[in-house]
Amino acid sequence: MPPPLGDDDSCLLTPLISASPPPLPPRATARLHPLPLLVGALFATYYHLLVAPAPSYYQSLFLSLGCNDTAAAHLRALTVRPHLAGTEANALAADHVVSTLSSLSFPTRVTPYEVLLSYPVRRSLSLSAPGHATTTFALVQDTYPGDPYAAASAEVVPTFLAYAASGSAAAEVVYANYGRTEDYAYLASRGVNVTGKVALARYGKVYRGDIVINARDAGAAAAVIFTDAKDYTPGKAFPDGPWMPATGVQVGSTFKGVGDPTTPMWASSEGCERVSIAEAMATDDMPGIPALPVSGRDGEEILRLVGGDVAPEDWQGGEGAPVYHLGPGPAVLNLSYTGNETIATIQNVISVIEGKEEPDRYVILGNHRDAWTFGAADPNSGTAALLEMLGCLVLELTRQPLLNLINCLSKRVRRKVQNPDNGTESLYDMWMASDNSLIGRLGGGGSDYSAFVQHIGIPSVDMAIGSGYAVYHSLYDDFTWMEKYGDPMFRRHVAVASIWGLVALRLSDEEILPFNYSSYVTELENGAVDINKRVLGMPVSLSPLHKSIKQLNRAVLKVDSELQALQTWKFWSPWRNDRLRVRDLNDRLMMTERAFTEREGLSGRPWYKHMIYGPSLYNDYGAEVYPGVDDAIQTAKKTNTSESWQSVQHEIHRIARVISQAALVLSGGLT
Ligand SMILES: *[C@@H]1O[C@H](CO)[C@@H](O)[C@H](O)[C@H]1NC(C)=O
Ligand SMILES: *[C@@H]1O[C@H](CO)[C@@H](O)[C@H](O)[C@H]1NC(C)=O
Ligand SMILES: *[C@@H]1O[C@H](CO)[C@@H](O)[C@H](O)[C@H]1NC(C)=O
Ligand SMILES: *[C@@H]1O[C@H](CO)[C@@H](O)[C@H](O)[C@H]1NC(C)=O
Ligand SMILES: *[C@@H]1O[C@H](CO)[C@@H](O)[C@H](O)[C@H]1NC(C)=O
Repeated sequence: MPPPLGDDDSCLLTPLISASPPPLPPRATARLHPLPLLVGALFATYYHLLVAPAPSYYQSLFLSLGCNDTAAAHLRALTVRPHLAGTEANALAADHVVSTLSSLSFPTRVTPYEVLLSYPVRRSLSLSAPGHATTTFALVQDTYPGDPYAAASAEVVPTFLAYAASGSAAAEVVYANYGRTEDYAYLASRGVNVTGKVALARYGKVYRGDIVINARDAGAAAAVIFTDAKDYTPGKAFPDGPWMPATGVQVGSTFKGVGDPTTPMWASSEGCERVSIAEAMATDDMPGIPALPVSGRDGEEILRLVGGDVAPEDWQGGEGAPVYHLGPGPAVLNLSYTGNETIATIQNVISVIEGKEEPDRYVILGNHRDAWTFGAADPNSGTAALLEMLGCLVLELTRQPLLNLINCLSKRVRRKVQNPDNGTESLYDMWMASDNSLIGRLGGGGSDYSAFVQHIGIPSVDMAIGSGYAVYHSLYDDFTWMEKYGDPMFRRHVAVASIWGLVALRLSDEEILPFNYSSYVTELENGAVDINKRVLGMPVSLSPLHKSIKQLNRAVLKVDSELQALQTWKFWSPWRNDRLRVRDLNDRLMMTERAFTEREGLSGRPWYKHMIYGPSLYNDYGAEVYPGVDDAIQTAKKTNTSESWQSVQHEIHRIARVISQAALVLSGGLT
């Protein structure tokens, strides 16, 4: 079933880990007291060949400590109230994180930031049509009898689309399917003129900000987005099943940029430079028209009164839905929205565990905490897994920094963790059985990793478990949903905590960073094949790209042999550990990802500095390989001028340059 595609706030749900502690390795049989283990761990890098248990022992020990009850308790505490960004409730959720970290003796601080947030002040939506009485929609998500969160739900923010323009429109309705650019192209081909109309689109294929922006660009006066039961309620609705109730509404941001709109390229620290709110709201990254989200029930009610040509088969709803027509009219929607864009305070909770060796290097673990409603799945399943993992990790943590995590690392980790939904296989088996389709690259925008990967070029991993999360960003994303349907025994939480912690342990403990750029080479080659197909017969040469990929491949091979040499050397002389050579190799492995970034960023989207992975221009959720080339090809296909094909060539040269640069960094050449 199409779950809410994408996720503009990443969330983590998941895994199960073996419940019994691993047997101690032979050399450590006498060490049952935790203290020697801790000491052993600190010295593992130097002495593991001689006295201390191997690092894999600590990894197994870490795995044995995971506990579903603590994960559940954290989630319950974090989601007791809705905690929208900038509210007092979200500051209280921060307190829970602070007190947990403090109780684990992690030095913890809270750093406040002042950012532009958006809240609804007034909303109204009414439907009329000749011969029909006017319906005024309640715009309320219903609670159910016995809902333990019924009282708290009064605090849930009224359904709205953050950063939508304040204003009103009363006009005929045009049905725009999923609101993609191709849907508007189809409407135009059928002679349906969207100018001045209210566009009605459904959720599910592209980022909601793009749905509104595409409506604006097609000339719509306002946009309404509904949750179609066909996509979000294929089975029993919550609380009788996991799916979206008829009055459920997906709320969320429609801003297409990343971070605080008043500090477009810098941090929102106290007293910092800011563009005015009016200026920030006037950029192309803002929707610029009024818009509201509505429930599946309201969406159907509107569509019942939309006439015109019958929409194509794949634009239709599910069983029991009316036949959808394209419009325009005769249904008229009168939408009015007033938002309050205001500077509010948010809190980052930060703990730093200083490394014993190389304390200047960091592995960053985190996820956002603020939620559109209760946030049981998005995002606090991730917060709960993080806190649970840190509880288990108190034993050991250290040295090095993190990273678009490279397949090899996570494969090794996943082999150790059981699939929480099937005790007879590991997550690795499950991933392999899925033909690798569950492993992707971090190109999509809007999620927590975006600034790390796409702005700075820090190798990163984003993990999620589970599917069918239809109550995304609705009132129903609460602890009850998680307990009943999302993760009934909280095994998935533990499994995610396990993988996360193992990744952290490996990144911090392994002498050589476990990054394998050969998978990058494969990805780059696949991306080149793709481009080749799209520019066939056009005056565009891919040879600079092919040349640079070959260069990167040679650098990968060189690093492989360096690694082997280092390991052989160590085997013969365990005491003579060449710290400088190791540090040099790690620097290069770490900085290669950064070499894929370019100062000027993607053309027209300067915030996105990573030239290899970035969001698609027309769908922030969509990940593109070579996004700059993709943008240029799309433009060239539309205009088909020689200048536009020259821009494609220019973009190919740009990516070839960063790949060559990455090859030089990786091989230690003169850059
Ligand atoms: C669509 O309608 C607008 C406003 O009525 C009009 O200016 C425009 O020319 C129309 N576009 C097409 C393609 O007919
Ligand atoms: C639209 O609704 C608003 C608010 O309810 C009302 O003031 C306005 O008169 C309505 N406009 C039309 C054209 O019906
Ligand atoms: C907007 O929010 C600010 C800060 O919370 C508040 O002071 C102001 O009154 C609000 N404005 C409106 C129109 O609600
Ligand atoms: C569990 O995994 C095993 C091994 O991959 C597989 O044969 C079996 O069908 C799976 N069971 C379920 C219920 O998916
Ligand atoms: C944790 O798992 C055990 C079984 O392994 C189960 O009895 C318990 O209910 C689970 N805890 C939660 C909060 O689901």
